Amino acid sequence: MSTSNNELKSTELDSHSIEEIDEWLKRYPEDQKQSAVLAALRAAQHQNDGFLTVELMDAVAEKLDMSKIAVYEVASFYSMYETEPVGRHCVAICTNISCMLMGSETIVNHVEKKYGIKLGQSTPDGKIFLKVEEECLAGCDGGPMMQVDHVYHMSLTPEKVDKILDSLE
Ligand code: FES
Repeated sequence: MSTSNNELKSTELDSHSIEEIDEWLKRYPEDQKQSAVLAALRAAQHQNDGFLTVELMDAVAEKLDMSKIAVYEVASFYSMYETEPVGRHCVAICTNISCMLMGSETIVNHVEKKYGIKLGQSTPDGKIFLKVEEECLAGCDGGPMMQVDHVYHMSLTPEKVDKILDSLE
């Protein structure tokens, strides 16, 4: 029985992730491999279209000589990791105080209406994940702002948001 590529990417670290983790490991003493856990989880999440599976977290634990539970704790503590399937483009609109004062609610409403989903949900076609952003994204001078797949977009208007989101594949 053959295993599909899709199955493999959600269960085993691929060569790109291993390469990236090995690069990070060069920075730490041999007995401090756990220092690379954030980077390792980021690589694993990236290879699997934006979310971590138990198998991938276990693979990270093995690679870094950590207990599985310690890796699960890290993955569930930080909001940048997802442990459920999500849309392939992560859209995080900052709704913290500065952005709120500069109109983030209008942006959230616009995007929710555009895709017919609420914060925390993904579009049925698997394209967009509208992440609930709990913390300031440190771009307060350009609010309202959002992060789309690690790229910051500032001083948003509904028109600007449409242009950015419509250009995503
Ligand atoms: S409050 Fe939105 S970036 Fe700081």
